[in-house]
Amino acid sequence: MQKTVSLTVNGKPVSATVEGRTLLVQLLREQLGLTGTHVGCDTSQCGACVVHVDGEAVKACTLLALQAEGRSVLTIEGVATGDTLHPMQEAFRNNHALQCGFCTPGMVTSARFASISRATCAAAPAITTSCWRSPRGRR
Ligand code: FES
Repeated sequence: MQKTVSLTVNGKPVSATVEGRTLLVQLLREQLGLTGTHVGCDTSQCGACVVHVDGEAVKACTLLALQAEGRSVLTIEGVATGDTLHPMQEAFRNNHALQCGFCTPGMVTSARFASISRATCAAAPAITTSCWRSPRGRR
């Protein structure tokens, strides 16, 4: 059974018709053409598919597209500002951290999330509940 899902991707509202079993990563890659998010495994362990959903790092292979209804998704395509790389992308480039490049989008989005979390926790540790979660508890 197909349903329509509406969400915001990289700041733009989008809608798509998906099967109930469609994963967020499939929606992004196959229907929205955002192929920077990769599938590197079939066990949800590699992290090549990490995107941000409402500001949280999420493995897009573990979330159904329909679960993203009304949410805001940031993919690697939305990390840079125009032609200006995000500082995390710049740091990866400056430190030759790209390797083959296949997993790099997931590593950049994960590292970007970690840097934001660290800064947020440092600024307001008492009021930021995510500061108390272990990294393994994050989606
Ligand atoms: S594709 Fe490997 S964790 Fe999602």
